[in-house]
Amino acid sequence: MSRVLVFREYGGPETQELVDRDVPEPGAGEVRVAVRAAGVNPADWKRRSGRFGTKIALPAPMGLELAGVVESVGDDVAGLEVGDAVLGVPARGWGALAEHTIARAQDLVPKPAAVSFVDAAALPVAGATAYDVVHQVPLGPGATLLVTGAGGGVGVIAVQLAVAVLGLRVIGTGSEAKRALLEELGAVFVASGPGAADRLVAAAPDGVDAVVDLVGGEALREAARLAREPGAVVSTADPATARELGGAGVVRHPTRESLGALLGHVVAGHVRPRVGGVFPLERVAEAVAAVETGHATGKVVVEIG
Ligand SMILES: NC(=O)c1ccc[n+]([C@@H]2O[C@H](COP(=O)([O-])OP(=O)(O)OC[C@H]3O[C@@H](n4cnc5c(N)ncnc54)[C@H](OP(=O)(O)O)[C@@H]3O)[C@@H](O)[C@H]2O)c1
Repeated sequence: MSRVLVFREYGGPETQELVDRDVPEPGAGEVRVAVRAAGVNPADWKRRSGRFGTKIALPAPMGLELAGVVESVGDDVAGLEVGDAVLGVPARGWGALAEHTIARAQDLVPKPAAVSFVDAAALPVAGATAYDVVHQVPLGPGATLLVTGAGGGVGVIAVQLAVAVLGLRVIGTGSEAKRALLEELGAVFVASGPGAADRLVAAAPDGVDAVVDLVGGEALREAARLAREPGAVVSTADPATARELGGAGVVRHPTRESLGALLGHVVAGHVRPRVGGVFPLERVAEAVAAVETGHATGKVVVEIG
């Protein structure tokens, strides 16, 4: 048997349950992964709540990104063998918050030995999204980028890519608890909350070249006012408001492409995953709850096995 976190109905955390199921078998083009670590994302509880629709068959497995070891290889898979350490995303209908899961071979990349399973699990969704969003508006070295919600799972990678790889001047917003982390990553910290709009203008009196929004709503509206070009506002959290303001939602690229490029920067030491909380599978509900507060620091990861 093999444990997996599911939600039984659309709703709150009480609908989640860690259940036993048979160890799954991979189909053509797929592999079975023994999951060693899985990242928790806001999308986990948003899917559970029904915010993304209510069409998924229930009970629905949870967890969208993983690192682990290939345990079984289906037909028509080239380039992956039993025993390979990998990271990536599970196949549709399978969850990463599980002892075993199924992934399409095309959605996995080899895990570099220098990157731990816990750090690797922070990258396939949050890291790849950070990679996509910071590259969506092309900016040259020295340009100024404003990142809202910069201290969370996507933000810590986005800030490092922007500072260390793209050579941008980065202003990062978050609660006071994120100040030390964001300054260490090379960002100019601006505290969120009442008065944030004035503090942003003080930090960037001439405006900014682009905005990467990871919060949405009022935080996005305040940030977008600083953008010299409305089209240079991109949001992962609230594409509808971004479009209303003249900007766009993040355009995601195939996981392998962005993840592969990001891993190169991780191995080169330009980017370091920042895992703010690690929970065992038995405490997976606490891990989801930590992300559901909306105020996680860096990435929350569940370590398995
Ligand atoms: N479209 C996609 O493919 C995709 C992929 C990944 C993520 N996303 C979305 O992108 C967003 C960010 O994801 P994530 O994984 O980074 O979430 P996260 O880890 O929960 O981080 C969000 C961060 O925003 C900060 N924050 C909350 N309210 C704020 C405010 N008013 N001003 C400034 N900062 C604020 C939070 O903490 P503090 O307030 O304590 O600083 C937290 O650090 C989520 O909405 C997620 O669903 C979309």
